[in-house]
Amino acid sequence: MADLTLPDDPEAPDVAEGGVWLHCIECGQDHPPFDDIIYTCETCGGLLEARYDRYPAFDDFDGSGVWRYNAALPFEEGVTLPEGNTPLHRAPRLESDIGVRNLRIKHEGMNPTGSFKDRGMTVGVRVAEELGVDRLACASTGNTSAALAAYGARAGVQTLVLLPAGKVAAGKIAQASLHNARILEVDGNFDSCLDIVQELADRGEAYLLNSLNPFRLEGQKTIGLEILEAFLDDYGRFPDRIVLPVGNAGNTAALYKCFREMVAGGDLSPDDVPKLTGVQAEGAAPMVEAIEEGYEDTRRWDDVETIATAIRIGNPVNAPKALPGIRETGGTAVAVSDDEITDGQRALAAEGIGVEPASAASVAGLRKLRESGVVGSDEDVVCLTTGHLLKDPDAAAAAGNDPDPVGNSTEAVLELLAEE
Ligand code: F0G
Repeated sequence: MADLTLPDDPEAPDVAEGGVWLHCIECGQDHPPFDDIIYTCETCGGLLEARYDRYPAFDDFDGSGVWRYNAALPFEEGVTLPEGNTPLHRAPRLESDIGVRNLRIKHEGMNPTGSFKDRGMTVGVRVAEELGVDRLACASTGNTSAALAAYGARAGVQTLVLLPAGKVAAGKIAQASLHNARILEVDGNFDSCLDIVQELADRGEAYLLNSLNPFRLEGQKTIGLEILEAFLDDYGRFPDRIVLPVGNAGNTAALYKCFREMVAGGDLSPDDVPKLTGVQAEGAAPMVEAIEEGYEDTRRWDDVETIATAIRIGNPVNAPKALPGIRETGGTAVAVSDDEITDGQRALAAEGIGVEPASAASVAGLRKLRESGVVGSDEDVVCLTTGHLLKDPDAAAAAGNDPDPVGNSTEAVLELLAEE
């Protein structure tokens, strides 16, 4: 069973480099961080996490964006575009409609390539430079491939992306394409793409930058740090709950690691840790199933389907890190229908916040949990919106108004307007 306990007084093992090492959450073995290229434990196959001989504190942070938090990261700086420092919108109408004390929308779609993946890539590609690899690769439902292509281009390293054919939104493919990734469309779903790319990585063909790579999650921790700091500034306290869409459960795992480290460092009381609340689409909900059934790990769903193609995932590889995060923080997981997701997308759009379908799952899930009484009216809640509206222009157009054709004159326009 995974053990995610952080030692009170961390001491670097012999294998550490610059106070950083990789720790297996299953068997406890420590591994050198930048010698051999490994993604999972060589002994037992368990997931690895980056460990440090120090814990971060709010006073350590300085500057802006992901690298403001370098006290919590393996390097001082990385390949940057730059990323992070995303808005934490207020959404007053949605807040009173859903009925919580404070609702804030952390819009990760405002990162350079339009999703939170940039936070992981700025760190992951920095590590790739350290390792001296010459090809980066990922499987993707779209956003990871867009981020990898852009950061790989920035670093001057070749990129290879494997996508499920016909199931990736247009904006994301356009990004990977223009940033010059080699794009392979696999006749299978995301989970098969990840199986293949993991095998390519194991055979030394490329450096894997999916969220199985523990360094990606280090960058994504900074979402949590930004939220904690902003809440402290605005309200003098931390949010009760963070609601987020879940696919591979990388973000859930990253947020939990952020909280564990801040607790270990003493700046966050265990009682103040926000409840991690995951939302999946009904057609791809193995994490929700695991939470509801009390499973220690998820059971793979072979057939997955949802309008939220970004989270069309049946085998969340980070589940052993993320399930304890949901459970230990007192959170939960909930599934929402595609119609509820589209309603959430419209509700956010009505506040001026444009997101792709997967992102709207957070709002749809919050609404559902509020209606069922799981979320209280006195809660301060942050919904994470993970990707920008323009990522999936087809979904946006389908959810929005249809354009009306009109004649080429003011009269024709006035006539049409008068009809309504
Ligand atoms: N939201 C969006 C917009 C995403 O692109 C993803 C994942 C998630 C949520 C889920 O995050 O995996 O950390 O639970 N997209 C990956 C990709 C799988 O390939 O772009 P997670």
